[in-house]
Amino acid sequence: MARKRIIPARCVSGGLSVPGDKSISHRLAILAALAEGPSEIAHYSSADDCARTLECLRRLGVPVEQQEDTVRITGVGLEGLSRSRRKLDAGNSGTTMRLLAGVLAGQRFQTTITGDDSLRRRPMRRVIAPLEQMGARIRARNAQFAPLEISGALLSPIEYTLPEPSAQVKSAVLLAGLFAQGDTTVIEPVRTRDHTEIALAEFGAGVSRNGKSIRVAGHPRLTSRQISVPGDISSAIFFLAAALALPGSELLIAGVGLNPTRAAVLDFLAQMGAPVRILNVEMRHGELVGDLSIRHAPLEGGTISSAGVAQMIDELPMLAALGPYTERGIEIRDAGELRVKESDRIAALAENLRRMGAQVEEFPDGLRVAGRAAAGASGRLRGAEIHAHGDHRIAMACTIAALGAECDSILHDPASVAVSFPEFFSTLESVVQR
Ligand code: S3P
Repeated sequence: MARKRIIPARCVSGGLSVPGDKSISHRLAILAALAEGPSEIAHYSSADDCARTLECLRRLGVPVEQQEDTVRITGVGLEGLSRSRRKLDAGNSGTTMRLLAGVLAGQRFQTTITGDDSLRRRPMRRVIAPLEQMGARIRARNAQFAPLEISGALLSPIEYTLPEPSAQVKSAVLLAGLFAQGDTTVIEPVRTRDHTEIALAEFGAGVSRNGKSIRVAGHPRLTSRQISVPGDISSAIFFLAAALALPGSELLIAGVGLNPTRAAVLDFLAQMGAPVRILNVEMRHGELVGDLSIRHAPLEGGTISSAGVAQMIDELPMLAALGPYTERGIEIRDAGELRVKESDRIAALAENLRRMGAQVEEFPDGLRVAGRAAAGASGRLRGAEIHAHGDHRIAMACTIAALGAECDSILHDPASVAVSFPEFFSTLESVVQR
């Protein structure tokens, strides 16, 4: 497996942009496939995960073409998917598997969907349970792991309260609701990202929110769209963090998605003393977009728990790895969910940050990474061997932490970043000053 030398940086400066939002890209591709006629999606995410969704759609008989970051999908209509002779392969992508499970539950044929070693270990009971309640039959390894063999059915609408906050599960049920006879309702006690609801409305589905409850009408006619994807805030976080870790830094990140269900991380950074400025905000296809400007400032540190965990779930690895660059450190609690992501992120962060010399306390539901105050005046991180554990966000978070270390680090499996951000290292090189 390849390795990459991470050389410390003096600071980061300049301007950059990030790939299209991964969550939004998946949803737009799926809805474009179910709409009638040609849709065009601009700034589609370059993430491997999103390419997996396109490949699965192709296998279901949907014409998909891609030119650079523009994707053209000729929608086949709600009833137009066809049986795939081969298994669908979601690769590393939980979103591909869980969202498509919702769509496949409403088909008149059987589909098997599988994924890589990591995805085949991740919990799928959470989508199987509501989709079976709607009438689909799903066979899974030990009743809870992929491969999933999904036998679609004429679905009945349900009212489903999410036992744990999960936008993927919410989305699976809402997408299945498109194929149900009547209105399907999902109740989410804790608010999660609402890109599915926004995209459903954009494509003409009947969807409404009333407090914590989201309702979608069955059998809509979805109309094709020309739509563009905002930059991914969960990729932008690595650059915001680099600027905050390295004195003298100043960055402008253009065209970032600022949907309030995703942007809590900006409030958290601001509370810690980060001078984040939001510029040129506009609404595009129901999603807020703007530019982010940041410059280095000392950070106080802070704690993330309860609802904050769901709101910042994908930013938590970077926030934890920023801990040693804050005064009081970063504590993350109520985040047991991090243990069933692409890797056990709590264990992977604790291991790598400790190798770099950080003081880390690990809990079943989170971790506490000590700040400068605990480490004393000479408390800089040291260069170390970093193990990505096949997890893109671990690789990127630890790379950023390593930029401020005393000497070089070696990152094992740098290619793992391609799962969400193939251009990560080239973008980083374009702003790093040594
Ligand atoms: C996602 C939802 C979150 C997130 C994942 C993308 C989505 O997962 O961590 O990276 O696109 O809906 P959960 O729904 O499992 O919390």
